[in-house]
Amino acid sequence: MRALCWEGVNKLSVQTVPDPTILNDHDVILKITRTVTCGSDLHLIGGYIPFMRAGDVLGHEFVGVVVEKGPAVKRHQIGDRVVVCSFIACGNCWYCKNELWSLCDNGNPNPGITEGLWGAAPGGCFGYSHALGGWAGSHAEYIRVPYADRGAFRIPDGVSDERALFASDSVPTGWTGAHLGGTQPGDVVAVWGAGAVGQMAARSAMLLGAEKVVVIDRLPERLEQVRRYVGAETLDLTETETLPALREMTGGRGPDVCIEAVGMEAHSAGGQHVYDKVKQSLRLETDRPAALREAIMACRKGGSVFALGVFGGFIDKFPMGALMNKGLTFRGAQQHGHRYIADILARMERDEIVTDHLATHTMSLEDGPKGYTMFKEKTDGCVRAVFVP
Ligand SMILES: NC(=O)c1ccc[n+]([C@@H]2O[C@H](COP(=O)([O-])OP(=O)(O)OC[C@H]3O[C@@H](n4cnc5c(N)ncnc54)[C@H](O)[C@@H]3O)[C@@H](O)[C@H]2O)c1
Ligand SMILES: [Zn+2]
Ligand SMILES: [Zn+2]
Repeated sequence: MRALCWEGVNKLSVQTVPDPTILNDHDVILKITRTVTCGSDLHLIGGYIPFMRAGDVLGHEFVGVVVEKGPAVKRHQIGDRVVVCSFIACGNCWYCKNELWSLCDNGNPNPGITEGLWGAAPGGCFGYSHALGGWAGSHAEYIRVPYADRGAFRIPDGVSDERALFASDSVPTGWTGAHLGGTQPGDVVAVWGAGAVGQMAARSAMLLGAEKVVVIDRLPERLEQVRRYVGAETLDLTETETLPALREMTGGRGPDVCIEAVGMEAHSAGGQHVYDKVKQSLRLETDRPAALREAIMACRKGGSVFALGVFGGFIDKFPMGALMNKGLTFRGAQQHGHRYIADILARMERDEIVTDHLATHTMSLEDGPKGYTMFKEKTDGCVRAVFVP
């Protein structure tokens, strides 16, 4: 089959790779109908998460049709239209039983790398390097989905493939941040980053009852999407100083919940950016945490900061004094989609969650390298490039 593969830092190409086969009784094979870029892929492509090998298939947000199933699969039939959680979880270990699905003890068959780096291995993710299991990704004609009764969800008839696609990763990631960040009815929630993840974190916070939600970014076309399709307020960081503006909007107190949806390649102005860029390129710090620092500084006393953006290693100038003295709760997570996807699909059917506008560009797999360049450089208003294999 054809697949979009990582070939080296900033180098992608379409290759012929072996078709997947059923290896375990709980597997299904999907024919992929749509698969989409994610901000997380940029960290892999740029070499910031250095655990890819030439020939690895990228992609973790996808929908497809079941074409083969293992004998133990109960919830799915051949021909079913399904969306699959980007993280792989068994449903039976201690972490899955405690609704911490992305931390599944059985989702990552290759735990050694992250045990050394982080003290313990999180679960596995499709197309997300050997550190997260070495699973083949979805930018291909077919994919093997393990633990299919847990990770694959039937798409309701009233929800299109284009919309359901984002129930794989972007929406449940946003929901994870808003929910586990502790959003309460009446809260003010600030979100850094107006990519698909930040937009969906904002929408989730609204649905969880936040009274005011503000999204911060530097790209006007994305902020326009936030106002139009998400219904949240916006701050353009190239025009307004974020901290005073947030204080002004919250009676001087600061947001109750601050969600960071930018990650390790954050942009910032002036000396801070030079400092982080130089240290990151010399590998003296692995990640550029400008938005994370700002979220901690902005948060009200006793509030909560949630890191949804992906970080890989070690950062500098982490405002530990602010975290401790302001009594903040700090948390992060890879998304626990298994917990939320059924509810998200129901909300998509009721038009409470709309994602169609995120798919700004649709193209063939062959145009994948071009699509990633547009997505990385944010040209032509690209929010997400969708591939139809
Ligand atoms: N936790 C998870 O499970 C999970 C899942 C998916 C994605 N992610 C991560 O979420 C992050 C966002 O993903 P995405 O797909 O929306 O990415 P994206 O690249 O489309 O969007 C990132 C946005 O952040 C903005 N930005 C950059 N610097 C900023 C700053 N200092 N302040 C405010 N905004 C800034 C950019 O302009 C851009 O619009 C990435 O780090 C990705 O890896 C995490
Ligand atoms: Zn993702
Ligand atoms: Zn598990």
